[in-house]
Amino acid sequence: MKSVKKLMAAAGLVSVLFLSACISNNESSGSGEGEKLTIGTEATFAPFESMEGDKIVGFDADLLDAIMKEAGIDYEFQNTGWDPMLVGVDDETLQGGMAGITITDERKETYDFSSPYFEATQVIAVPEGTDIQSGEDIKGMRIGVQNGTTGDEAAQKLVGENSSDLSKYDSSAATMMALQNGDVEAVVTDIAVAQHYVKNNPDANLTLIEDEDNFEQEYYGMLLPKDSEHKEKIDEAIQAIMENGTYEEIYQEWFEGTPDIEALESAQP
Ligand code: ARG
Repeated sequence: MKSVKKLMAAAGLVSVLFLSACISNNESSGSGEGEKLTIGTEATFAPFESMEGDKIVGFDADLLDAIMKEAGIDYEFQNTGWDPMLVGVDDETLQGGMAGITITDERKETYDFSSPYFEATQVIAVPEGTDIQSGEDIKGMRIGVQNGTTGDEAAQKLVGENSSDLSKYDSSAATMMALQNGDVEAVVTDIAVAQHYVKNNPDANLTLIEDEDNFEQEYYGMLLPKDSEHKEKIDEAIQAIMENGTYEEIYQEWFEGTPDIEALESAQP
């Protein structure tokens, strides 16, 4: 039994490595004024971005396409991985990142963000039947997070900076795999991604714990280089597609219910 589990873990790891090794492109759109922007992502974050063959699919992929079409900007969407995306947008070898990226004050010191396009918070994923009620209860447990994310930060706030109870992974998928393998006992990650995972992996028998006291409200924005010359056009495009129904259409392809566009438009993260 143990060795079967190990084998499955190894197979999972291989496929994650394979995924991150395949840099794949979604070619653009746009009116083509010559310049073509390269936008990075970490595509194991369904339903925002995941790989389908060599194509990046998901809410972010569709929204990015609508934004860039509206703005008349040519672009290509690349599965660069999380850290390379952050480094690339900083040194401007990439002109943007679209990866369910939370707008934070700390990141704003290095980057610009588009206006917010999605509301989020962190959540704890644990095996069903685990006696966990809040963030306080995961103290002392082995916790998995994606390195350098707001989930990583939130977990550190609970269990201490760089606590040895934290296991950090390079991708979102790897955290969930670790939870399924029993390598970690809990994962702190973005709510919509956790919900999508639970729904699509009923055999994993996971349950989600929300905790408003410990996990703040977050907003996703498109990551842009500091003083990006494209920010204004991109923000105008976001506003336009929120007002002309395109945003809602895309939302309903990937999520249930209706988006609170007014809340997004008035949010000032
Ligand atoms: N929202 C979180 C953050 O910005 C997690 C994003 C992870 N995205 C991904 N594509 N793996 O830190």
